[in-house]
Amino acid sequence: MKIGIVGSGAMGSGIAQVLATAGNQVLLYDSNPIAVEKAGQNLEAQFQKLAEKGKLAYEEAETYFDNIRLSDKLSELKDSELIIEAIIEDLEIKKELFQKLESLVSEDCILATNTSSLSIASIASACQKPNRVIGIHFFNPAPLMALVEIIPAVQTDNDLISKTKSLVESWKKLPVIAKDTPGFIVNRVARPFYGEAIRILEEGNADCATIDFAMTSLGGFRMGPFQLMDFIGHDVNYRVTESVFKEFFYDPKFKPSFTQKRLFEAGFFGKKSGRGFYDYSENEKQPKPNENPELLESIFKRILVMLMNEAADANFLGIASAEDIDLSMTKGANYPKGLLQWADEFGLENLEKELDIFYNYYHEDRYRCSPIIRKLVKQNKKFYEK
Ligand SMILES: NC(=O)c1ccc[n+]([C@@H]2O[C@H](COP(=O)([O-])OP(=O)(O)OC[C@H]3O[C@@H](n4cnc5c(N)ncnc54)[C@H](O)[C@@H]3O)[C@@H](O)[C@H]2O)c1
Repeated sequence: MKIGIVGSGAMGSGIAQVLATAGNQVLLYDSNPIAVEKAGQNLEAQFQKLAEKGKLAYEEAETYFDNIRLSDKLSELKDSELIIEAIIEDLEIKKELFQKLESLVSEDCILATNTSSLSIASIASACQKPNRVIGIHFFNPAPLMALVEIIPAVQTDNDLISKTKSLVESWKKLPVIAKDTPGFIVNRVARPFYGEAIRILEEGNADCATIDFAMTSLGGFRMGPFQLMDFIGHDVNYRVTESVFKEFFYDPKFKPSFTQKRLFEAGFFGKKSGRGFYDYSENEKQPKPNENPELLESIFKRILVMLMNEAADANFLGIASAEDIDLSMTKGANYPKGLLQWADEFGLENLEKELDIFYNYYHEDRYRCSPIIRKLVKQNKKFYEK
């Protein structure tokens, strides 16, 4: 298949690698010639590295790299059967691009966006044929992360959904279908991992090292929330939190924290800037966690309960099926277990009780128990035997 990719940055290049490896003819376009050149060099080095590591035969690596053409001329995209846009996260710039693309390509060319936070409906609204527009959301780094969220807009043709699903499968990725709502699945359901951890810190119950240790040692998460936020960068992570909050019409459960906002404002972006929640200067000793078992258990339980509640609510509101929500968090965020499977094992009655304890204590909306949990408890059912 002839596939065009617009934007040769981190995501566009990664997506190009995935598609070329699956045997597609890829045209990777960027308006910035320097970015195109850099992407070409990076991709060549990437394929070379895979061959050196023995993950690909040298001839395969060469063939796959030859499947990618690079260009800084938009007009070269005209024969594409599918275009995936991965440019800067700016609605007006994306809309302008979609208008230009539509005037260039054939009637049947599918137009997809890799946006993380913008509504697919608003991007599609720029087109004469908005029914051909769909969200295809890869995770970073695209060659390594198996998950792809497919997000139909209200305008999208129904049969484009199954067609896109088959395409994603042909790229050896795992597709899940998500409703066109802020954060789709992963970036919505993961919010409490950060938000509740910061809240525990703000209340003075534990420090970053202890909270991180609770989540890695008891929860089996690869990184604790503060390590992960420092790794992602507060410029990125804080902005996502703020945009999700605004996009949800200021639902208090998504409220950002002053703690992270101040780090962002100070330019303490995390690992990349040398300081975030942790100090990464050379010779700086990393703080040791408090290993009190009861404290660790209470931290882990509180964050997990909030995550399971958000996963339940996403299912309740029809954002995605239970299976797709669980697949999203394990394959798109590397969680050790699907949150709804975890909720079933934790016991839904237990989950309801824990949430009500928080709600009764704080009287804050963020701790409201999702109605689906109450309903399943009443019916003596679980997520996986509805
Ligand atoms: N980085 C992530 O973790 C991640 C994950 C999933 C989705 N996304 C989404 O993918 C998109 C791209 O993100 P990224 O991290 O690759 O960004 P990036 O900054 O690495 O790359 C963006 C590229 O787009 C090019 N560009 C900008 N405007 C353009 C235009 N009008 N026409 C052509 N090229 C243009 C830039 O020159 C740049 O090379 C964004 O919508 C982002 O929200 C990012």
